[in-house]
Amino acid sequence: MKQVYPEYPGEYIRDILLTREQIQARVFEMGQTLSKDYAGKNPLFICILKGATLFHSDLIRNIDIPLSVDFIAVGSYGASTHTTGEVKLIKDLDCSITGRHVLIVEDIVDTGLTLTYLKHLLENRDPATVRICALLSKPSRRKVEVAVDYQGFEIPDVFVVGYGLDYAERYRNLPDIGVLKFMAQQQEG
Ligand code: IMP
Ligand code: MG
Repeated sequence: MKQVYPEYPGEYIRDILLTREQIQARVFEMGQTLSKDYAGKNPLFICILKGATLFHSDLIRNIDIPLSVDFIAVGSYGASTHTTGEVKLIKDLDCSITGRHVLIVEDIVDTGLTLTYLKHLLENRDPATVRICALLSKPSRRKVEVAVDYQGFEIPDVFVVGYGLDYAERYRNLPDIGVLKFMAQQQEG
């Protein structure tokens, strides 16, 4: 099937790293595992806005135990392909997490700075447990060690977009995950 992606000047996607079928199959497996691990615990699945929205909504549909959801937004400064390292809280949770079994649902772990910040923030609120579930991980780019308890796919050091992941707010709506390249890179090789 030929997929038509939206185009933006100076940027292109040539390689699809993960197809929608691969993503859905893995999300199904993760849902099975989480349903077992969190049975009887009424967990709170926290979606990190905005990148994890598609993953989070697909994941919870594959979970057959009672749970609740909440949303939190954090950001780093600027719209580059590399984070500055400074993390800021943009939108806090609506509910209290004291005594709750919390799962942080994230799109991708890159340097690890965002999740390290978030985990500390949430641990200070006396939850029963805090674990991390990330669809993607780029271990080669890690600046701080962070334990990813549930991981979808390990990927190489490439910039990916689609399935919620953006570059300057673009491409979040792609159903697949592709590698984003820029025209200057295309001319080189
Ligand atoms: P970290 O704090 O460096 O681990 O960065 C995590 C955040 O950077 C993610 O939540 C993403 O928003 C963003 N990010 C890192 N790598 C990529 C990528 O390849 N594509 C899109 N966003 C990315
Ligand atoms: Mg992002």
